[in-house]
Amino acid sequence: RFAKQTAAPLLILGGGSNVLVNDEGFRGVVIINKIKKRVVEDQINGQIKLTLGAGEMLDDIVSWTAGAGWWGLENLSAIPGTVGATPVQNVGAYGVEVSALTVEVSAINVSTLEEKIFSKEECNFSYRDSYFKTQEGKCWVITEVVFLLSTGSNPNVSYSDLSRLVSGNLDLTPLTVREEIISIRSKKFPDWSKVGTAGSFFKNPIISPGHFQTLKQAYTELPGFVQQNGDFKVSLGFILDKVCGLRGYCEGSICLFEKQALVLVVQKGATAHEVKEFVRKVSEIVFQKTNIQIECEVQFV
Ligand code: EPU
Repeated sequence: RFAKQTAAPLLILGGGSNVLVNDEGFRGVVIINKIKKRVVEDQINGQIKLTLGAGEMLDDIVSWTAGAGWWGLENLSAIPGTVGATPVQNVGAYGVEVSALTVEVSAINVSTLEEKIFSKEECNFSYRDSYFKTQEGKCWVITEVVFLLSTGSNPNVSYSDLSRLVSGNLDLTPLTVREEIISIRSKKFPDWSKVGTAGSFFKNPIISPGHFQTLKQAYTELPGFVQQNGDFKVSLGFILDKVCGLRGYCEGSICLFEKQALVLVVQKGATAHEVKEFVRKVSEIVFQKTNIQIECEVQFV
């Protein structure tokens, strides 16, 4: 209401872990979502329905649900950010996307102050995308998210990095899977409490089957995952690393991380302008080598 009265530009932040703010800063009202709530709605037939405040930290919730023995969120361990941000970009990792667990999303429209509950279908989820990223969808501030988890053993260990869990004689519980994910992530990703990073800076590109076949002929190891419409999602980390030789590439204090080329890291002192320039250069190299126009996962403010 305050932002509406002042008619100032409005920025809504969750944990702020996936945004790059420009060097001039943001002139307007910034709302940091701290809505806390954890309610077990019902637990029937091996399913458990949870209503969560959008300002809860995602990893606190994963720690809680995995500790309680509830399956569903464990593969999303150690991701920085809030629960309310998860539907916006359909957060995903290690073979699980929140769209698979989301039942509904409550939100308030900042223009009309209308309150609405969005069904999963209305969220219009796709890879790292949803209705809430569209121009119209950006008017909504998410206040609560309802997830459906399961109490029966239901591990998702299909992702290649999780092969140790498949072959080992480990007793699989949500907690053992969570511990394995935390261990994998700590080896692959930089420590965000020490360096500036937003995790993957770019989205994995989705390209036509013909384009994929051409690239696959030249780079036989290129990982590609067929999508519902027949297109292929390809691993940009592989392209940056093995096709463009850019893993560990730096300009000043901005680098593509040496252990995962999709991750951009900056040391203190780098400007947003320099980051954008670096991103432009990287995008150009990828385009020249592969004819792929890459897109950023990070949101620019
Ligand atoms: N690869 C390389 N070199 C690299 C990086 C990757 O060859 O420098 C190869 C890997 O060997 C693998 C493939 O590329 O064959 C894919 O790599 P990885 O499994 O690390 O996953 P990713 O596609 O690069 C995605 C998500 C991550 C998520 C991981 C695990 C996106 C944009 N990124 O990365 O999400 O944690 O899968 O599920 O979809 C994030 O969004 O911020 C994020 C970290």
